[in-house]
Amino acid sequence: MAIWLITGGCGFIGSHLADALIARGDTVRILDDLSTGKREQVDPRCTVIVNDVAREGVAAHALEGVDGCWHLAAIASVTRSNTAWVETHQVNLTGTIRLLEAARRVRPGAPLPVVYASSAAVYGANDRLPLAETAITCPLTAYGADKLGSELHARVAGHVHGVPTIGFRFFNVYGPRQDPASPYSGVISIFADRITRRQPITLFGDGTQTRDFVYVGDVVRFLLKGMERATTSASVFNVCTGRRTSILELAHTLFRLRGHEVPIHHAPPRAGEIPHSLGDPEPAAAALGIRADMALEAGLQRTLRA
Ligand SMILES: NC(=O)c1ccc[n+]([C@@H]2O[C@H](COP(=O)([O-])OP(=O)(O)OC[C@H]3O[C@@H](n4cnc5c(N)ncnc54)[C@H](O)[C@@H]3O)[C@@H](O)[C@H]2O)c1
Repeated sequence: MAIWLITGGCGFIGSHLADALIARGDTVRILDDLSTGKREQVDPRCTVIVNDVAREGVAAHALEGVDGCWHLAAIASVTRSNTAWVETHQVNLTGTIRLLEAARRVRPGAPLPVVYASSAAVYGANDRLPLAETAITCPLTAYGADKLGSELHARVAGHVHGVPTIGFRFFNVYGPRQDPASPYSGVISIFADRITRRQPITLFGDGTQTRDFVYVGDVVRFLLKGMERATTSASVFNVCTGRRTSILELAHTLFRLRGHEVPIHHAPPRAGEIPHSLGDPEPAAAALGIRADMALEAGLQRTLRA
């Protein structure tokens, strides 16, 4: 029976990963500072260490005796990364390096494999869609810059220190347990919550901006597959569907699934917001043999039922 560490395991994506590992009979340890994560959304069979991954010694302690690690802990807020630049950098990049450094040392002669979360934010304003992994990276935010930095340090971890890794550039992930109360939450959880409570929703701009929405269950399948495929060559793959949905279309799909509409308010476009985001899923499908194949409507139904 394998023992795994998930950093950020009390969060949205991490808690779903923990469920999948527990369901297959593995043992799960979580390292989470509970800054956005919630202990109560995690299966009670998981052991939870409440601490900061970026603090010296914490990752090394958490990794003792485990077979591998999924590193998902991050301040996953673009807005916050721009206002609290140094603080988020500490978590999003220093935290990653601390984790990789600990994975290098914890089992002498056999570094631990690390699967980590990157983001489509590394592509920034690149508008040559769909974005394949070979596309130019030009992050526009501190969050995107630190995710790209994490990828570069994962390469160092493999090349210099023999740590096997694989990174995943998640596009817009949605599904049950995404917190609509967070000011940084995904548009789907906010819309779903407001429509359910029959409150108006706000669209920034005209709503024609598009996103590649990927269901959390698909993300978990990539994360699990990643642990089998981590190598010192430090590959990075998109996790996306290759399908674009406008925000307006999303709102109307949710209206239909909920069976009622709410008023739509329009606000000025948000400064710096990219108009379109779309990933190319083919390189990952060819290399890993899996796809994010949950249809948006089916994924939204599951999200609304939760
Ligand atoms: N949700 C998305 O659409 C999306 C898209 C791209 C990338 N990602 C990345 O995926 C990962 C998981 O994101 P999520 O959506 O589940 O976010 P989340 O906020 O729900 O989860 C992040 C978890 O990390 C924990 N955490 C934060 N700082 C920590 C620290 N210093 N030490 C220990 N734990 C800490 C939080 O408490 C939380 O439980 C993140 O790395 C995020 O950047 C998410």
